[in-house]
Amino acid sequence: MCGIVGFVGDQDDALPFLMAGLKRLEYRGYDSAGIALAAHDGIVIQKTRGRLAQLEKRVATLPGHVPCGIGHTRWATHGRPTDENAHPHMDCTGTIATVHNGIIENFQDLKEELIAKGHRFLSDTDTEVIPHLLEEYGGLTDLVGAVQAAEARLRGAYAFLAVSSHEPDKIVAVRRSSPLVVGLGEGQNYLASDFSAFLDLTRRAIVLENGDMAVVTPQNVSITTTHGEPLNRPVMVVDWDISQAERGGYPHFMLKEIMEQPDVWSDALLGRVQNQRVVWREMGLPASVAETVRRIRIVAAGTAYHAGLVGKMLIERLARIPVEVEVASEFRYSTPIFEPGTLVMAISQSGETADTLASVRLAHELGVPTYAVVNQVGSTLARESDYVVYTHAGPEIAVASTKAYTTQLLVLTLLALGLADLKGRGRPDLVQHLLSLPHIGQTLLGQLESVRQMAESLSLKRDVFYIGRGLDYALAMEGQLKIKEIAYIHAEAYAAGELKHGTLALIEDGTPVVAIVTERDVAEKTISNILEVKARGAEAWGILDRQITGDIPVDHQIVIDTPDPLLAPAIAALPLQLLAYWTAVFRGEDVDKPRNLAKSVTVE
Ligand code: F6R
Repeated sequence: MCGIVGFVGDQDDALPFLMAGLKRLEYRGYDSAGIALAAHDGIVIQKTRGRLAQLEKRVATLPGHVPCGIGHTRWATHGRPTDENAHPHMDCTGTIATVHNGIIENFQDLKEELIAKGHRFLSDTDTEVIPHLLEEYGGLTDLVGAVQAAEARLRGAYAFLAVSSHEPDKIVAVRRSSPLVVGLGEGQNYLASDFSAFLDLTRRAIVLENGDMAVVTPQNVSITTTHGEPLNRPVMVVDWDISQAERGGYPHFMLKEIMEQPDVWSDALLGRVQNQRVVWREMGLPASVAETVRRIRIVAAGTAYHAGLVGKMLIERLARIPVEVEVASEFRYSTPIFEPGTLVMAISQSGETADTLASVRLAHELGVPTYAVVNQVGSTLARESDYVVYTHAGPEIAVASTKAYTTQLLVLTLLALGLADLKGRGRPDLVQHLLSLPHIGQTLLGQLESVRQMAESLSLKRDVFYIGRGLDYALAMEGQLKIKEIAYIHAEAYAAGELKHGTLALIEDGTPVVAIVTERDVAEKTISNILEVKARGAEAWGILDRQITGDIPVDHQIVIDTPDPLLAPAIAALPLQLLAYWTAVFRGEDVDKPRNLAKSVTVE
């Protein structure tokens, strides 16, 4: 998830708009930034790794009075955050520049093809294939025709803008999945990843849809398909304020991040599944190493630790490799015994958590290979681990993790299925079902209004218990953490069968118990546990798999559809996240910035 902006006018300078627009979009990515200005005498670019403040120092050297330009603020996906990998990127002749948000799935093949034709690449990004393809397809004289031809070669989810010094009065833009909007000004028009970039200049905007191409000049915006067939998109008047626009119109980043999960799930799966198999080379761990793994030790903290618990069950069940999951702050001070063939796997959103890093360093000192499952490209964990796979959740702003967690679950599922395949235990049915999760998630998110009523009731309680078995227990642990951290309600997660060994004593009239029941094989057992708490007066709420039928004695229920219990955790996480979110809202808490917590825990 990067931020892109474009400005084309008949007299005003593009530069101040581009810088102001990027500032508003910095929440979308902040590891590098850059600007390209296009004029008849050529394209000039300034770009740098680091936050926008770094770029601000450099743009002073750019020429004034250039009314056409594009800008980018980056959240790295392919290639570390470096000056070379910062956008914009250019073709070989320096005539065309592009900025891009998203992932180009087939960039390796395209890059090889272009290199064979003599193109020289300067970065490790997927983006750089775009200007070279544009050059190849006649973009030096006809930018629109080249964009049409080049776009037909790209696979993935993306939005990009292209400018050319041959035609510096226009920006050509394409949207395929990643967001892109056009702002309509007077004698000038704008493009951006979201409205916030231009709301102080205009409130009239057009939202581009998938497969739309826009040719934007100072006086005109023409929208066609990428084959050139004209389209009529409505002009809307945006009445959001700027901070609302940054949050996509949602009142909090946490809600925005919950709602965008189906999209980031698609990003996490993109290019990693083909012909009902996991594309192992996309998993960051060479097959030659994976084949020697006899035992995995997962280290992580908080939500990432909970993802690790799900990962353990999936890897053990599918690939039959034993896995232990350890809290990083404990592991780093333990005296671990590593058997030959052990792989230490660290899971982290930020890649900067001090305890997780220390655990990986300990493994290194003891000569054990390390593998990171991480969201932040170029983070310390990604750099210090021997191998790395990215979760592609995009920047997570709310302190409480939501989309980073579920993308960790998806990547761990891919990993379990890929390892199983390497061991001759492939499950093509599950791999295929994985691709349906974004759609299932999207449908479910549209049906969760009843979670609000549960939340209203929960917001008045002092304690809540979460129970489940197997994967549902691991999920229960994440559910209780969410409630604690943003709604400040005491919450506990229990293996459903363990309640009667002590904790049942705490259940009294009206105590809420959230039961997660997606593990079909042990559903009956969990249902008996629900009866036990009900008999003690509990108010039982169920997150239930539709396939589990019979009389389930709950007071409220959320029914989820899952193609297979092994794929249920990410789906069942959605109502749990919303329950925590709405409960915190009903209690009037600061949802995005809960007390005493920080987004990245870089100290012990
Ligand atoms: C809770 C949460 C934390 C983090 C933990 C590890 O919502 O976000 O528990 O999961 O601090 O952080 P990362 O994943 O950045 O290592």
